[in-house]
Amino acid sequence: MKKSNKKEFENIINDILINNKFKELDGELHHGISRAGHSLRVAKNTYKITKKLNLNYEKATRAALMHDFYTNKDLESKNSFEALSEHPSKALENARKYYNITSLEANIIESHMFPLGHKVPKYAESWVVSLVDKGVAFYEMYRYKLSLTLGIYIIFMFNMITIQR
Ligand SMILES: [Fe+2]
Ligand SMILES: [Fe+2]
Repeated sequence: MKKSNKKEFENIINDILINNKFKELDGELHHGISRAGHSLRVAKNTYKITKKLNLNYEKATRAALMHDFYTNKDLESKNSFEALSEHPSKALENARKYYNITSLEANIIESHMFPLGHKVPKYAESWVVSLVDKGVAFYEMYRYKLSLTLGIYIIFMFNMITIQR
């Protein structure tokens, strides 16, 4: 990212990054990385794409950062299927506790799991975030599984070498 864009990106999201509730996402695992790390990656890609497409990139970036704004504790009473389809409304509820959320941001957060869940993306920005989230999730899970497999393989090879000595 260009230096000036990096600065702008940081200015758009900084108040969310220092929010104490949001900081809790740092310690929660999501696709093999922290939920904060995942959200930041979705926000970065959303910023780049929506800015290029001349969309409302400020709101899109903020909503992208908050699309998974929930802690495991928030959903502890739900089974995994309920958590999958209901976490967007929990994320929106949390976002509204701290920020004035526009209807664009609300739709981005609520519909990011489309076609799962009941909300349909209404804006171009919502489609971008929904697609970026899926791409990023796929990349993260693949990378996580790959490094896990590689780790197991290295331990196995190490054992074989030491056994043969
Ligand atoms: Fe999500
Ligand atoms: Fe996500």
